[in-house]
Amino acid sequence: MQQAQQFARLHNFVLFEQPSPNHVLQLRFNADRLALYDSELNSSIDVDFIQGALAHREKFGGGKGQAIARAVGLNKPANRGRQLTVIDATAGLARDAFVLATLGCQLTLVEQSPVLVALLQDGIERALLSGDGHHAVHNFTNLVHAGSALYMEHMDADSHPDVIYIDPMYPERKKSALVKKDMQILHKLIGAAQDEQHLLETALQHATQRVVVKRPIHADPVAGIKPSTQISSKKTRYDVYVINP
Ligand SMILES: C[S@@+](CC[C@H](N)C(=O)[O-])C[C@H]1O[C@@H](n2cnc3c(N)ncnc32)[C@H](O)[C@@H]1O
Repeated sequence: MQQAQQFARLHNFVLFEQPSPNHVLQLRFNADRLALYDSELNSSIDVDFIQGALAHREKFGGGKGQAIARAVGLNKPANRGRQLTVIDATAGLARDAFVLATLGCQLTLVEQSPVLVALLQDGIERALLSGDGHHAVHNFTNLVHAGSALYMEHMDADSHPDVIYIDPMYPERKKSALVKKDMQILHKLIGAAQDEQHLLETALQHATQRVVVKRPIHADPVAGIKPSTQISSKKTRYDVYVINP
């Protein structure tokens, strides 16, 4: 209750002690976890690194051969034996970030939405309290509530990361039945990406090795800015911008 009161006060949100019938999206402070509930879909999203799909991927995932690993450059000889530093400039539910963390990258998560930051904080705390000392969540070194372009512009020169990863919101698909419920909820909360060009241009000035942009497989590169290379998996493409090749 105290946590809910503090959060509502900080962000100027209305606090109800019972579920409200009049609000489509509701952040629910439940006993065991924080969740974002969608009353139209009767479904909710939360962040869980201990059980479910992410934990499964941590145990049985595709290793350094998977597309996202190749995109960030984990296979490069120069990166063998060192821990890559990555800023995830669009953290969202940190699913991609978690995959990178399981592969040994050290992650700074930056997210503009206070609701998602609260969900992430809750998921990270639960994972750390679970007592699994080897958990990849330990590779999340920082969770920042900020617009990423501003965050990058204010970084010290010696803290520029090897890689900046950007996953802008895809445009909303008309056939919503084809879109998973969690993505529909995220879309209602955030809407479509608006500043992806600025984000990419800023990232290109602040990564030391590369910038990676996740795109739908047939989409144009962000703002027509041609990547150095593209790595595709089934539905997703990673546009890779190599700095000083
Ligand atoms: C498609 S989601 C990212 C999903 C994420 N890759 C994952 O695996 O869960 C995009 C997220 O980026 C955030 N975002 C978009 N532009 C941003 C910006 N300029 N600064 C910080 N966060 C941003 C949105 O609020 C949203 O949560």
